[in-house]
Amino acid sequence: MNTALAINLPRLLQRIQALADVGAIDGGGVCRLALTDADRDGRDLVVGWMRELGLEISIDAIGNVVGLRRGLEEGAPVMTGSHIDTVRTGGRYDGNLGVLAGLEVVATLNDAGMVTRRPLAVAFFTNEEGARFQPDMMGSLVYQGDMALQDALDTVGIDGTTVRENLERIGYAGGAPVGDNKVHAFVELHVEQGPLLEHEGVTIGAVTGVQGIHWTEYTVEGISNHAGTTPMALRHDAGIVAARITCFVRDLTLELGGGQLATVGQVQLTPNLINVIANRAVFTIDLRNTDGAVLAEAVRRTFAFAEQAAQDEGVRLMHRSLADFAPVMFDERMIARVEQIATGHGLSVRRMPSGAGHDAQMLARICPTGMIFVPSVGGLSHNIDEFTNDQDIGAGADVLLEMLLELAST
Ligand code: GLV
Ligand code: MN
Ligand code: MN
Repeated sequence: MNTALAINLPRLLQRIQALADVGAIDGGGVCRLALTDADRDGRDLVVGWMRELGLEISIDAIGNVVGLRRGLEEGAPVMTGSHIDTVRTGGRYDGNLGVLAGLEVVATLNDAGMVTRRPLAVAFFTNEEGARFQPDMMGSLVYQGDMALQDALDTVGIDGTTVRENLERIGYAGGAPVGDNKVHAFVELHVEQGPLLEHEGVTIGAVTGVQGIHWTEYTVEGISNHAGTTPMALRHDAGIVAARITCFVRDLTLELGGGQLATVGQVQLTPNLINVIANRAVFTIDLRNTDGAVLAEAVRRTFAFAEQAAQDEGVRLMHRSLADFAPVMFDERMIARVEQIATGHGLSVRRMPSGAGHDAQMLARICPTGMIFVPSVGGLSHNIDEFTNDQDIGAGADVLLEMLLELAST
């Protein structure tokens, strides 16, 4: 193995900039919600780069794209990658860094004329964000086989259209089979999306696993009435029930301790007018914890409180599950290799769990998997001001290069 090999940072930064120009929004952010025209344009750009780099491209029926670089031997590839879809107010690094750093590793090997023993693959998975279609990590979940393709294709998004029709519309309903994929090992480089690394002045996170994620959509149905004439005791206000549940989950996080997280990120009131009591509230709750038992308790108590709040107000309550993923622990050997390689590069490194969901948590179900984090300035992500310093991007990509080379050589 040639440990003197290093990635070309300006070339990687150019690709990050070019991809961020697709779906760019005011203020420096990016909007490429999954399977939109902007997502298609981003995909086309990345697939073009894959072709230029000589990768053999396959696109499966859920739109996952894999670029394969052949090795000296046939067999399961060592894979890297992430996603290129974004939330509506996303940054340029979330997901994109992992895919483009993978391409940079390939470009570096091409420049050096190196052929690895095992094949190397760079993938981007469909709809990791789950902002438009739930669940999140949809493409990697179908890829590793735990979500049926038909269920994924039938999923209806926030705008009432299906995954199937959007995949066909943007031309990414591919022919490669899904669900029987063999991967030797998977490594994903990603920005931390939180404050820890920057706060502690550490450059590399050796990710130990991903916390559990539970998403539910609640619908409350009450009765609209006049805001000026309806006595408080006689109201059936869907809005107040949504508000009470929102406050409850926030208080619950304090009671259960620092590891429990709760977010109500989406609320729609109907008819949404100043002087009309809401007859309908639709809102989402995102609960997360690295401790599966505490997460289960949070879920149970939230359901119980919601039922009680609906009963108190005399309204109807319905809920449906949008995502339910247990906490994941990565392979100890992969965590240790990230630490050792980072240390060998003279970089500071710490072990840490991931707060965000990642495609790696799905790949961990079928192969040894690891993740490399680099710092997010101000801990910001899912925000147009998301930023990671160039030097940290280079450091993370070099750790990725060495780890992939090692895995593909042994
Ligand atoms: C995906 O980005 C998530 O963790 O919500
Ligand atoms: Mn991501
Ligand atoms: Mn994200």
